[in-house]
Amino acid sequence: MSKRYLLIAAACVLGAAGLAQAQSAGAPSAADTVKLRQTAFALSASDFGAMRHLADGPGEVKDLAFNANALRRWAHVLPTAFPAGTGPEAGVPTRAKTEVWSDRAGFEKAAAAYATEADKLFELAKANDKAGFTAQLKVVDETCDSCHKVYRARPPQAK
Ligand code: HEC
Repeated sequence: MSKRYLLIAAACVLGAAGLAQAQSAGAPSAADTVKLRQTAFALSASDFGAMRHLADGPGEVKDLAFNANALRRWAHVLPTAFPAGTGPEAGVPTRAKTEVWSDRAGFEKAAAAYATEADKLFELAKANDKAGFTAQLKVVDETCDSCHKVYRARPPQAK
């Protein structure tokens, strides 16, 4: 090997080491990103279920403004939880289908529809409009389902 090649090889090793260091110092790994978004989805489902339960009861929906705001905030940042390289090819258990990346425009449109309807839910909570809020919960739920139908795989079969 010539000196020149040795230098290039050394530069590559240093570069790779730098990358690994950058990852451990800040940027999350693909596995961490998948776990983070799955946790956010689980929390959002928990938030949604709690709102549905409380809206069925005698309370006022203005008390759910915090919950509705949390849901809409998540809806607005949802696509950022799916960076390139965090799909099934990352080798970590994920139900995100490859379509999240191959049909990115469609995925972002589905997320935007969710964010728009979650924004409305928040406004209805602030306005203390219980009938409107209850009806809007169903509309938001439909935006969850329509994204899942296309971009989320079925859960692994229970044994
Ligand atoms: C724009 C698309 C999209 C929208 C909108 C969406 N989801 Fe999901 N959801 C996904 C994808 C993709 C996954 C799979 C994530 C993974 O496994 O990496 C997922 C996973 C989940 C999970 C499983 C989390 C876990 O524990 O692994 C739950 C629960 C969930 N979503 C609930 C909801 C609820 C409730 C809503 C609406 C209030 C919603 N989602 C809206 C795409 C979406």
